[in-house]
Amino acid sequence: DWTSDVFIDATIADLKAKIGTDKVVMGLSGGVDSSVAATLIHRAIGENLTCVFVDNGLLRKNEFEEVLDSYKHMGLNVIGVDVKQQFYDALEGLTEPESKRKAIGRVFIEIFDEEAHKIPGVKWLGQGTIYPDVIESVSINGPSATIKSHHNVGGLPDFMKLSVVEPLNTLFKDEVREVGRALEIPETIIGRHPFPGPGLAIRILGDITAEKVKTLQEVDHIFIQGLKDHGLYDEVWQAGAILLPIHSVGVMGDERTYEKVVALRAVGSVDGMTADWIHLPYEFLGKMSNEIINRVKGVNRVVYDISSKPPATIEWE
Ligand code: XMP
Repeated sequence: DWTSDVFIDATIADLKAKIGTDKVVMGLSGGVDSSVAATLIHRAIGENLTCVFVDNGLLRKNEFEEVLDSYKHMGLNVIGVDVKQQFYDALEGLTEPESKRKAIGRVFIEIFDEEAHKIPGVKWLGQGTIYPDVIESVSINGPSATIKSHHNVGGLPDFMKLSVVEPLNTLFKDEVREVGRALEIPETIIGRHPFPGPGLAIRILGDITAEKVKTLQEVDHIFIQGLKDHGLYDEVWQAGAILLPIHSVGVMGDERTYEKVVALRAVGSVDGMTADWIHLPYEFLGKMSNEIINRVKGVNRVVYDISSKPPATIEWE
């Protein structure tokens, strides 16, 4: 039978044998998976692990500063890299979902390559890939068309010359959380909803600008904070907001407005492969809608996504 303690001991022993005295570089995303993977590797090889946390300008409000702080408290050797502008430049004018994902994946790899070259003799790249990522990417990269390219799966370009180490690639999300709790990673990280690597870029339909990111961050923050304040956050597997590329007519005072629409999404799931929309209380949704429209400039309409996966996906892009 699977238990987190057995898994942890076996994995640390494995990692020690595999990596020895080599150096490892690893990208952290602020999510559960990369945090748990990094902690395991850190337990196995200590300071020979260097973590890189990239501010791609597509994270949630205040996420970069808060998460970087938690990592430092956890004792991880972590470098924060602010490369927002590089990502915005690469995304400029792109509207097609796969082009956006590919651009983001490309810049991530460039940044990594740069950071990895600053670590003399680094041989390995740690990744927080979990089992559902592996199967989704196998099935979607098969002979049929790609549904969504997960930038964090599928290996690296040759020029990086790093071997990949993925200690969680046999686990499901609930198992990763169990391992994380056994490793005493703070609950603020373990209980965190999943968040996609390409971040808010795949929740802003159409082209990405710094201004749109700012708008969506504010909306998302109100929604997520609202879920927490109403004791709903832990009832939901994943939640977020989507900025739609359309304007709709509204009215404020005597004035006609013509502003943006945002969608709220909250789903229940076990592993992200299937998902049901959550029946959030109407009163709560009403409150969120008022708060968002009153507080976020440029938004005059809020809708709630009542689609399940399949046939919809969790993310809109
Ligand atoms: P979909 O939209 O495919 O999402 O139903 C399933 C789960 O995967 C997350 N997701 C990603 N995670 N890189 C990631 O690390 C990605 O490119 C990516 N795309 C989707 C999504 O947030 C959901 O939890």
